[in-house]
Amino acid sequence: MIYTLTLNPAIDYVMEVGPIRWGGTNRARQAAAWPGGKGINVSTVLSRLGVETVALGFVAGATGEALAAAVAAQGVAADFLRLPGGETRVNVKLRGREETELNAPGPHVAPEDMARLYGQLERLARGDTLVLAGSVPSSLSPGVYGEILAHLAGRGVRAVVDAEGESLARALPCRPFLVKPNRAELEALWGGPLETEAGLVRAAEALRARGAENVLVSLGPEGALLVDQTGAVRRRRAAPGRAVNTVGAGDSMVAGFLAGADRGWETALALGVAAGCATAFSPGLARREDILALYRTLPPEG
Ligand SMILES: Nc1ncnc2c1ncn2[C@@H]1O[C@H](COP(=O)(O)OP(=O)(O)OP(=O)(O)O)[C@@H](O)[C@H]1O
Ligand SMILES: [Mg+2]
Repeated sequence: MIYTLTLNPAIDYVMEVGPIRWGGTNRARQAAAWPGGKGINVSTVLSRLGVETVALGFVAGATGEALAAAVAAQGVAADFLRLPGGETRVNVKLRGREETELNAPGPHVAPEDMARLYGQLERLARGDTLVLAGSVPSSLSPGVYGEILAHLAGRGVRAVVDAEGESLARALPCRPFLVKPNRAELEALWGGPLETEAGLVRAAEALRARGAENVLVSLGPEGALLVDQTGAVRRRRAAPGRAVNTVGAGDSMVAGFLAGADRGWETALALGVAAGCATAFSPGLARREDILALYRTLPPEG
């Protein structure tokens, strides 16, 4: 079973707008609300690919119930923990000529809530996968992903970490099965720009030296690079196409990669890239048919 954990999910409220007048009344041409949160995105794409998954995480208040209902309506299995106070955040995305995001901090997560989460994680056993994705709420330590992985150590659970900065850095010593930085996240950990393929490989190798088993670097329109657990480097280019919405492309890539992971690295990488592209090329998250069609027509390795 693939579990995903979203500590700080959100409802994404997407509004199509013209030029914003600060201090005036602005009207949106269109508005829609989507369940948001990186782990939830991973679970959604996994379900569409027919892979069994359960989304875990914290929700709170009326917006938390709305989020849980929206996830259920997408046919995604979830087992969210309710927080006693606060409200799951509603993040506002303004789509105009540029994309502007307004993200709220989210509800407070107390030590008792974390204790309930640890209770829930007791069900994870050998062969299960846990995907830790997205930002850590400010009420928790940035080391919380590392703490969760330390707690699961020795249980044979495959961990995937898609996070940035401290939260990723402090998970590395727990030997996660996979980390998926994008270029900017890798550069931040490396401490400088990475302009060449050789540089990217060196930085990915450095993450392996710090504990990650497999490092999947997503490169937006340039596809992805994988340094696997044997140190072998694989490179896969993105499919040609026009990007309309890249939000969730990285999460889709994680889902595709995991869906293919039992069929070898070549398949995992190709399905990951195809799923990322399928999301980038569509208004919402990737649909199964689009992922499989792009997978079949993806440019060959190299
Ligand atoms: N503009 C694009 N054109 C084609 N493919 C894209 C584009 N953007 C993303 N992709 C696909 O999606 C994958 C992941 O994208 P990206 O590197 O942008 O992830 P990310 O920054 O982690 O995204 P997010 O965190 O918003 O989900 C890429 O490796 C590629 O396969
Ligand atoms: Mg990402």
